[in-house]
Formats: sequence, structure tokens, C-alpha cells
Amino acid sequence: MNSSTLSRSPRTYTPVNALYAHAEQLQAHSLSDLLGCDSSSAQQRASALAFTFGSLHVDISKQRITPHTLKLLIDWAHSCGLQEKRQALFSGQKVNTSERREALHMAARWPKHKTPPEGMEAAAAFCQQQQLRLADMVSRVHEGRWFGATGQAITDVVHIGVGGSDLGPKLISEALADRPSHQKLSVHYVSTMDGAQLLPLMECLNPATTLLVLASKSFTTADTQFNVRTALAWLSEALEIDISTICHHQLVGVSSKPEKMTEFGIPKAHQLVFKDWIGGRFSLWTPIGVSVAMQLGMEQFNALLAGAHDMDQHFLDAPLEENLPTLLALVGAWNCQFLNIPTHAVLPYDGRLKSLAAYLQQLEMESNGKSVGLDGRSVNHATCPIMWGDVGPNAQHAFYQLLHQGGHTVSADFVAVAKRDVVATDEVSSALCAQEQLTLANCLAQSQLFALGDDAIPASLRGHMAQGYRGNHPNSLLLLKELDAWGIGALLALYEHKVFVQSVLWNLNPFDQPGVELGKQLATSLYEMLAGETLGHNNVKDPSTEQLLCKINEWRQ
Ligand code: F6P
Repeated sequence: MNSSTLSRSPRTYTPVNALYAHAEQLQAHSLSDLLGCDSSSAQQRASALAFTFGSLHVDISKQRITPHTLKLLIDWAHSCGLQEKRQALFSGQKVNTSERREALHMAARWPKHKTPPEGMEAAAAFCQQQQLRLADMVSRVHEGRWFGATGQAITDVVHIGVGGSDLGPKLISEALADRPSHQKLSVHYVSTMDGAQLLPLMECLNPATTLLVLASKSFTTADTQFNVRTALAWLSEALEIDISTICHHQLVGVSSKPEKMTEFGIPKAHQLVFKDWIGGRFSLWTPIGVSVAMQLGMEQFNALLAGAHDMDQHFLDAPLEENLPTLLALVGAWNCQFLNIPTHAVLPYDGRLKSLAAYLQQLEMESNGKSVGLDGRSVNHATCPIMWGDVGPNAQHAFYQLLHQGGHTVSADFVAVAKRDVVATDEVSSALCAQEQLTLANCLAQSQLFALGDDAIPASLRGHMAQGYRGNHPNSLLLLKELDAWGIGALLALYEHKVFVQSVLWNLNPFDQPGVELGKQLATSLYEMLAGETLGHNNVKDPSTEQLLCKINEWRQ
């Protein structure tokens, strides 16, 4: 008998066993049954599962849960010691056990006027001091007091980083700096190691007025190092100035390794530091966000931090039954572990959130995509679904067919924005307003169809429309009143804490990522073979790779 069968044994009562048993019972009821029609209990259920936090509204009423499910899930969270572990997180205990570090990203958004929890004081003070340095750099750039190597003021920033040193800032830039009027200066993001994003920038930007931001927590990531070297070579050649002078004037470094920045030639005054107790994928709030602050200004950057901080406080204070990160984590774990739904779609109904799925992929999958628990034992069920997604309205014309009538069940988060702040002529405004309405209507329609399937077909159309709509896809709707800095800060912190809660439920360390290391090592030895630095292919582990290596070398002659 494997341990998963054991854990479902009716003889031992544990919250997890009770959830497995409950999931089996619930299989007989579709989501359509749970949603009911207009019975008063169905209405009560729907309103009990919708929560408003400031300008963020979270509706989990289209999840396959009953009040009893929720009660069992909350019992489970209590039995895992969620409250104590949350306390440990905020009070700076070394919750990242494999790396023996704290995980204090909340310190980076702790407001100066407010006393931090005991244990977080020094971390918050350090982050606030770096924020002052960041604000100073930002104002120098905005006031035209930052000069490139030829003495001209900066007009463009090229932010070079990857993973957590790229995805967060890029998401915020796309979300909030969508119009030139929202931008104080232009920011461009470069992450891919192949130089493909750099090439077009090198053709169109003015090298004399371009500032590079090298964002890398470890300061060793090859993707970033190679991009920076190419960018520096471009500036040096175009301006006919040596690289060390360029580094002196046109390079800002953001890292947890100040000594490496110094060695690279970045002057201390142009270094921004965050500590290794903030994980890369949790680092948007640190000086990793400097390019966002340069693009949008400190007011916006501070509003982003305020939204995230307000969510921290909510996570700390709200009872589990109303605690948004906890609820999102519980329904996610319920879908993944107990309903066996292996994938989760992120479907923003706003083009400005086109990078949300990529951001959440890293946040959730790099954190909880693990199968060895904190106790060193194998976890015998899936942890963290495969996250994927795209801008919802476009995806409707791409992969929704499969979701509606194919053979898979998925869970999903729909993310929508209720209104957009547009300053335009009356005619344009009302045309845009109609577009907003159209988008929201589509979002609601799809969320309903995901849940109800064929039952969503109006009686008058039954028999006239194709059937076979699968339905039963549990989904949540996260509605922002507006897409502003506070709202997106709160939204991202909500997901961060969701990840933490799930790590507690699954007994994982969400703050390390050992599984990404081996690929980097293999790539290093293959790089040497491609560069001709290693003779022969003796180290290649398989004939398939060896033959590809030969083909590439032949074509690169
Ligand atoms: O490859 C994984 C990873 O280590 C991420 O965790 C991290 O966000 C990314 O690489 C970039 O790392 P760094 O900021 O150290 O360059």
C-alpha cells in the first residue's frame, strides 16, 4: 500500500484524509449543481465566497467548494500551524532552511512610519536606507542631473536581468506605463540570453543618453552577464570611450553582491544593494524595481509598495476564513491535490497584464514545484499546478476551444479591471468605454461557461446550439477597480502569500530553487564544446545531443 492510499484510509482521521473523503463525495456534484440557480442558499453561498479588499475584489464562488469544504480546508491550515509559520516568516526566522536564511521581502515594503514586527526591524531599516539611495538616483535622472560619458543627460534606461530580476519590473512597466504620458523616461527590458532583445535597441537608442541597469541578485547569471557585456561593447564602440569609463557613467548595478559590482567596475555610488534574504522572485519591491521608479516616478513606486504592504498587513491580521492569500492558497491546493486538476490558467482580461502569467509561473512554479518536503521525505501528490496563460480575450481565439470541449479539466484565475482612466475626446472615450464593457462581458461570460458548461446555454437556444461544453472548470475572478499601482502591488503580494501558505500546507521550502542549477552546469560544459574550448565530445552524455552538437558546429563553420 503506498502512502497516498494510506493517507486516504477511513480509519485515521486527519484533516487531509477528511478532505480526500470529502473530494470523493463531491465528485457526484458538478460545479453547476453547486452554483445552483437562484435558490436562496445558492445566493448565500455566492455572497459568502466574495471578498472586497480596498479596490481589489476576489470572487471564489465558482470554485468547486461548499461551506463544508471550506471548513475542512481551514482545519487543515490550522493543523499545519499556518498562523505560527506566518509569524515565523514575518519575524525574520530562517524559514528558508536549505539556504539558512530569512525570507523578508515584506521588509522591502514596510513603511517608514510604522513599527515593523519584532525581528524585522533591522531588515526594514536596511531596505529603507536603500530606498533613499534609489530615490536619489531617480531624482538625479528625472532632473537631468545624471550625465552619460559624453556629458549628455539620460533619456533611456535599458534594464538587463532575467527571472525575478526582470519579470516583476517588466510586468509593472507594461501595466502602468502603457501610455507615453505616464512615463518620465523610456525603459526597455532585455532578458533573453541570445541578445535578440538587445539588437534592435542598439540600432535605435542614442548611446550617449542610455543608462544600463544591471539587475542580478547573484551577479553571476550568465544570461545577464553576457547581455551586459554586449551592451557595454556597443556603448564603448559607438561613443569611442573605454568600457571602464562607460561603467563609471552609464551603468547602475542592483545586486546582493556589492563586492562583485565593485569588481565589475560599477562605482559604489551607482550600486543599489538588497540582501540575500529576499528571494529573486520576491524582489520587485527592492531596488530591482529601480527601472520602474525611473519610468513612473517615486510616487507610483511608493504606491506599489503601499499596496503590497497593505496586503501583508491583511495577511497578518485577517482571520483565516477571510484571509485572501489563505483562501486563494486553499482553493488552489484543493484543486491540485484533492480534485487532481494538474494545470492552472492565468487569464487577464486586460492587455496591460500580458506578462502576468509569466510572472506567476516563476513565482508559483519555482517556489512550490518540488517533491521533497522540509522533512526530507517525498511528497506523494502533485504540488503546484502547471501554470500557464495569456491575455484572455486573445486566448478565446486560440486555446479556449480545447478548454470548452476538449478532454481536460483546468482551474483558472480570471483577472479583470473594472474601469480605465482615459483622458480623450468624447467620441474616443465612449468608443473605449464600449471596448471596456465588451472585455468585461467576455470575461464574465467565459468564467460562467468554464463553470457551467452546457448548463450555461439559455433554454431558448437549447437544441439549436452545439453542446458538449465541458464546464466544471473551477475558477476565481480577481477584479481590480482600476489598474493602478496600489492595486497591482496588492494583487502581487496576494499571490506571494498564497505561495507561502501553500508551502506550509505541502510542507515545502518555497524559497530555494535547486532544480534550476543542473541545467546551468550542463550548459556551461556544452558552451565550452561549442566555443571549441574543449576537445572532443567525451563529456556529452547521450548520442542524441552529440549529433546535434556536430550539426550545429558544422553549420556554424
Ligand atoms: O534560474 C533561476 C534564478 O536563479 C531565479 O531564481 C532568479 O530570479 C533568476 O535566476 C535570476 O537570478 P539573478 O537575479 O541572480 O541574476
